[in-house]
Amino acid sequence: MVWGTGVVNERKFLELLDWIMSYEPSAEFVKLFAGANEPVKELSEALTVFKRIYDDTRTRTRDTIVLEVCSGSRAPVAVLTALFIKRGRGWATDICDMDPRVVELSNRLGEKLKLFPRISIHSRRFVELMKLARESCEYLIVVAIHICKMMAVRVLEVFKKIGGDRLILVPCCAKPSWAKMSVGVEIHSYWDWVYALWKYAYEKLGLPARVELEDAMLSEANAIIDVDMEIAAKESKVLEYSYEQPTVDAEIAER
Ligand SMILES: C[S@@+](CC[C@H](N)C(=O)[O-])C[C@H]1O[C@@H](n2cnc3c(N)ncnc32)[C@H](O)[C@@H]1O
Repeated sequence: MVWGTGVVNERKFLELLDWIMSYEPSAEFVKLFAGANEPVKELSEALTVFKRIYDDTRTRTRDTIVLEVCSGSRAPVAVLTALFIKRGRGWATDICDMDPRVVELSNRLGEKLKLFPRISIHSRRFVELMKLARESCEYLIVVAIHICKMMAVRVLEVFKKIGGDRLILVPCCAKPSWAKMSVGVEIHSYWDWVYALWKYAYEKLGLPARVELEDAMLSEANAIIDVDMEIAAKESKVLEYSYEQPTVDAEIAER
């Protein structure tokens, strides 16, 4: 069994690459991927998520922080925010250290790019960092790409607690026993896990979560859970899980 959606679209990725390469600072960004295990895959993930942020017009009119959680050493979405969003600042945090090239970039860009390494998502320091981000901007977007196992649940809970404006979460792997215990859904596939997280966000936490497939992301795990607090507040209709569920998920949901 393939753990993922099994749907990717290389052409869409190439269009994204073409788009970013038409801007001057893009070389600065792309060279960060030299030496990565799977540079094209990682690039596609970062660009797909960043395009959502770039297309969000609120980032043009409000002082914005994009906080990339479990950012990995390259913190690509925080870097893109610092380079391309005029009113945006990129903040990145991970339990590990950041790549020296990202540290150098952060030293050069100052307030535009701030790094918070060696913070566990399960710690109080993480909650404090999220609160600080909340207090330091008008518009807070939290990004979590391929955040493994229960860290996805944790980020949903902390986002809810501190009152972020938008969360873009790309689920990754899961441990079935944990999922059953914490989210109450039995999982056998990637979509089951995405569904479990969506259900937890929507039903338990009351977050207006939507699920979309992002096939420009050249990864098997390429579903996005997008929580946009403002769009939800404007809409009168009840938001629903928008991806057509495979039957097995529907059956699990009934139990
Ligand atoms: C699968 S990687 C994803 C990295 C990056 N977002 C990406 O898409 O390439 C998971 C990341 O979570 C980080 N991580 C693992 N445990 C963590 C924890 N307890 N707190 C914060 N970050 C953690 C790892 O260091 C790693 O960078």
